[in-house]
Amino acid sequence: MLLVAWLQVSEGQANVGAVFKMNSKYIYAGSVVAESKCWSMLKGGLTVDESGPAELFFESKDTMVEIWVDSVSLQPFTQEEWNSHQEQSILKARKRTVRIRAVNSKGEPVPNATISVEQNKLGFPFGCAVENNILGNQAYINWFTKRFTVTTFANAMKWYSTERIRGQETYSEADAMLQLFKQYGIGVRGHNVLWDDPKYQPEWVKALSSKDLYDAVKQRVSSVVSRYKGQLLGWDVMNENLHRSFFESMLGPTASNMIYAMANANDPTTTLYMNEYNTIEKPTDLASTPARYLQKLRELQNIQGKIPLGIGLESHFNIPNIPYMRSALDTFAATGLPIWLTEVDVRASTNLQAMYFEQVLREGHAHPQVKGMVTWSGYNPAGCFAMCLTDGNFKNLPTGDVVDKLLREWGGLGGKTIGVTDTDGFFEASLFLGDYNLNVSHPLTNSEASYSIKLTTSDEPSPLVFRV
Ligand SMILES: *[C@@H]1O[C@H](CO)[C@@H](O)[C@H](O)[C@H]1NC(C)=O
Ligand SMILES: *[C@@H]1O[C@H](CO)[C@@H](O)[C@H](O)[C@H]1NC(C)=O
Repeated sequence: MLLVAWLQVSEGQANVGAVFKMNSKYIYAGSVVAESKCWSMLKGGLTVDESGPAELFFESKDTMVEIWVDSVSLQPFTQEEWNSHQEQSILKARKRTVRIRAVNSKGEPVPNATISVEQNKLGFPFGCAVENNILGNQAYINWFTKRFTVTTFANAMKWYSTERIRGQETYSEADAMLQLFKQYGIGVRGHNVLWDDPKYQPEWVKALSSKDLYDAVKQRVSSVVSRYKGQLLGWDVMNENLHRSFFESMLGPTASNMIYAMANANDPTTTLYMNEYNTIEKPTDLASTPARYLQKLRELQNIQGKIPLGIGLESHFNIPNIPYMRSALDTFAATGLPIWLTEVDVRASTNLQAMYFEQVLREGHAHPQVKGMVTWSGYNPAGCFAMCLTDGNFKNLPTGDVVDKLLREWGGLGGKTIGVTDTDGFFEASLFLGDYNLNVSHPLTNSEASYSIKLTTSDEPSPLVFRV
């Protein structure tokens, strides 16, 4: 069920949540920062798996304000309707109808020609995080590069990895990993310039005075960002700064803004992401609701000089609330900024994990403003973070099977589309964006020709004409 409501508070601002009470259970369906003197839209949703009366509450921790609510609407939908909406959205955002024409050497249309197309590279950026244990592990490299087009290094670029001892920067690991993925044409997200969590600073950083910390930060940002300038798909700049505030506590309330500006000065064209958890995962975490996230993002948008910004949503799920996920994505999408799901995984019992994982990936892929997805499930012999995709022999686990099933659907693991041209030499197919090999053959003349084509969202000539 999707929920839309308009809210206003009597004074100032307040974070207001929408909660359904049903059979003495409370289900959070969304939240918004409501203001006085203007109406704010709350978008949310929930999945209901039982029937009976329910009450809807709007609540705020700020007990001083009155909450006014107007135009509450609930839109129910069936699973079929949900799937059909996903398909419509995929058709528009991820696919193209391609008209192909076969002609002979004189340029005349060739009917009855066989057209065979096979995707050899997924257009939609989809990948998985990795750790340094991929270096030198050919079985892992083979498994990975057959499937994915993007990756993130879980640790190798972090400050605690590159400067464990003050003044001794070591980039050999991150460099080697970047080199490896470049060889395979796999794009890398930069993760992360700084992490706002006090726990995850290099030990020596924890002991610095504010002034020394400022100098160390300036050195860190310029060192890592300029080193990889122009080589990354984006940078997570100040990781998790809605939940943590190590740098704000030491350098003042605008520390994050200053650090984004520093990163941008060192690499002006790379998109800089706010990377945060519990944004689409969990409506109950009020520190990082879409409304809170967008408030912080607006501060970054106000930094002089227009930094290219992106929205990084970690997507660490327990039980996903897919309607809430979609409504939150819609709220983020209204900014027009690129959205990436940056660390997708699911912490659940084995029998539910794969199912939830598939639901989340399908919903992300179907949202037109989601420009890429990376799962947080890099193989580690000592245990993966919340889930692995394979065992130690790189044989798929059920979660890895989900990845392969989706790749087969989306075209990343091959799969041929074959057809025959009509009397005017035309053949039409709806294909996912990406790189394809195309063969045209004609059995009567015994002729065959092979081509490479690239389908992107941009307008391309139609029909595509191939000689056979
Ligand atoms: C195309 O193939 C069909 C069926 O195989 C055949 O009936 C028809 O005559 C063919 N047309 C041409 C122009 O070759
Ligand atoms: C095109 O033909 C070549 C050579 O026969 C074959 O290896 C390849 O798989 C074909 N590709 C497609 C898309 O059918």
